[in-house]
Amino acid sequence: MVKEVVKVGMLGLGTVGSGVYKILQSNASLIARKTGARIEVVKVLVRDTSKNRGLDIPEGILTDNPDDVLKDESVDIVVEVMGGIGKARDYALAALQQGKSLVTANKDMMAVYGEELFMAASENRCDLMFEASVAGGIPIIKVLKQSLAANRIEQVMGIVNGTTNYMLTRMTLDGSEFKDVLAEAQARGYAEADPTNDIEGFDAARKIAILASIVFNTRISLDKVYVEGITRISAEDIKYACELGYVVKLLGIAKDTSNGIEVRVHPVLLPETHPLAAVNDVFNAVFVKGDAVGETMFYGRGAGELPTASAVTADIMDAARNILHRVQGIVGCTCFEERPLKPMGDVRTRNYLRLRVVDKPGVLAQIALIFGENQVSLATVFQKETVEGKAELVLVTHEVAEKNLKQALQGIEQLPVVEEVCNAIRVEDQS
Ligand code: NAP
Ligand code: HSE
Repeated sequence: MVKEVVKVGMLGLGTVGSGVYKILQSNASLIARKTGARIEVVKVLVRDTSKNRGLDIPEGILTDNPDDVLKDESVDIVVEVMGGIGKARDYALAALQQGKSLVTANKDMMAVYGEELFMAASENRCDLMFEASVAGGIPIIKVLKQSLAANRIEQVMGIVNGTTNYMLTRMTLDGSEFKDVLAEAQARGYAEADPTNDIEGFDAARKIAILASIVFNTRISLDKVYVEGITRISAEDIKYACELGYVVKLLGIAKDTSNGIEVRVHPVLLPETHPLAAVNDVFNAVFVKGDAVGETMFYGRGAGELPTASAVTADIMDAARNILHRVQGIVGCTCFEERPLKPMGDVRTRNYLRLRVVDKPGVLAQIALIFGENQVSLATVFQKETVEGKAELVLVTHEVAEKNLKQALQGIEQLPVVEEVCNAIRVEDQS
């Protein structure tokens, strides 16, 4: 018998969950026609069932007992939008073990427990979909797993954290300092009270770990991702970068190079002509280069109620279609290889450096000697403002291995004429 209704149990009804509920209600008939059946939310797990949610929810749907969702045999699809990695992982596993398809927006859970969840999905022949976990409303997971599947992906570079992109945009356009834009981002509700995950790059690291695992067909665990946040970026760095024709962006980078794969998150100087350079404010974008398709870019809102819910709801529709056609689990885990990661010390980039030094003859020669001893070749050197006898030097290196640059900077920091190595930012110029 053909199913006329596909039943959904939700875990969570906060920002994303409410958005999903609203879309399923407001676009119900369109969704039913596109899917081939009505999608009905039959149970929703929340912490506080008495909270006023401003939603039209029938009596008896809300529950604070997870079993009401997970053990309800009528539930076909479980939608995990509660967040966290403890209970969320337990409930997600339980849902899959009951043969229910799982849709999640949870990057933290996918980055840490993706392998375990995929195994459970495969053993129980059900779907595990997680489009909203990376870059919110931007379709990128399905793009990489399916639409670009015929390509050998050479690189993925993404602005996948809206908070830091907003902050860097304001610093660029207004010349503001880091601490001021952080306060502004918090006041606007972009950055959380504890902004560590965003500004230290951890949020972006989870997202690039997920994307890299898909494109390189190998499991990239979170601890393998090199992570550096934006806390050291100053208004001067942004101004000098701009003078050199670059913008500063926090990127998640996954590259397949001739001597291994690189997966890293850090601020970069990006040529102002690069497509990602024009992605401003809270917007996200993912730039993908495949051997057949060439360069492509996917742009949109990486967070927020309805953009994120747009991706979750489309996953629900996909999972529902698969249930209707009895083809659950046809696109499973794509990590079928084991590929080692290149050590960060071997990663080669150009670099922007800002140093504060004593302003007197011979200083540059001492610095250049140490660079030379460590095979660091300089492309440009500028002397900026001199304040109280201290000059600011801005240098750009030619491409050099990370380990050589680190060693050179350690030596330079020891020079009595060098007051401070203020910053070193990688330059990402090859597309
Ligand atoms: P949220 O607003 O904090 O909502 C969480 C919901 O889950 C609430 O309804 C809460 O119940 C419920 N919940 C949490 N822990 C629970 C527990 N132990 N038992 C029962 N219910 C529990 O979170 P969100 O912003 O919607 O985020 C949800 C997920 O989507 C996260 O994984 C997040 O990373 C991901 N995501 C969010 C965005 C975004 O823009 N917000 C974007 C992309 C991905 P109460 O309502 O009763 O408190
Ligand atoms: N905190 C994230 C951001 C959104 O600023 O992009 C959730 O992934």
